[in-house]
Amino acid sequence: SASVRYEAENAAISRGAVESDHAGYTGTGFVNYDNVVGSSVEFQVTAATSGPHGLVLRFANGTTADRPMSVAVNGVTVTRSFPGTGAWTAWASVTVRAMLDAGVNMVRATALTADGGPNLDALTV
Ligand code: GCU
Ligand code: CA
Repeated sequence: SASVRYEAENAAISRGAVESDHAGYTGTGFVNYDNVVGSSVEFQVTAATSGPHGLVLRFANGTTADRPMSVAVNGVTVTRSFPGTGAWTAWASVTVRAMLDAGVNMVRATALTADGGPNLDALTV
C-alpha cells in the first residue's frame, strides 16, 4: 500500500525542540533532540494490516560520531546506528523492519548517548 509520512515535528517529543534552521526537511521542520541520554520522539502509526512493515526514519547528523538510538515498536526494541551524514543539511534514512498491529502502533526513537539523537525529520511507513 502507499506509504504514509509522519512528521517528527507533529509527534510526541520528550526533551527535544522543533526547529527549521537546516534545509532539506519535509513538512515544517525537524526535531532537534536535546543532547542527553533518553531524549525521545514517539509516533502513533496507523497500519491497515497486521504484519511486518518497513519503518523509515529520515535523519541528519552533522557530526562524525554515531548517535545510536533504540527504536521501540509496541514495546519491542531494537538499536540502530545513526551515523554522520556529512552535514546537518544532508538527510539520510535508516529502516527498521517491525511487526505492526492493525490500527494504532506506538513507535518511539530514544537517544542512547549523551550526544542525544540525530536531528529527526520524519518516519515513513
Ligand atoms: C547543532 C545543530 C543542531 C544539532 C546540534 C547537535 O547545534 O544546529 O541542529 O541538533 O548541533 O549537536 O545535536
Ligand atoms: Ca541536538
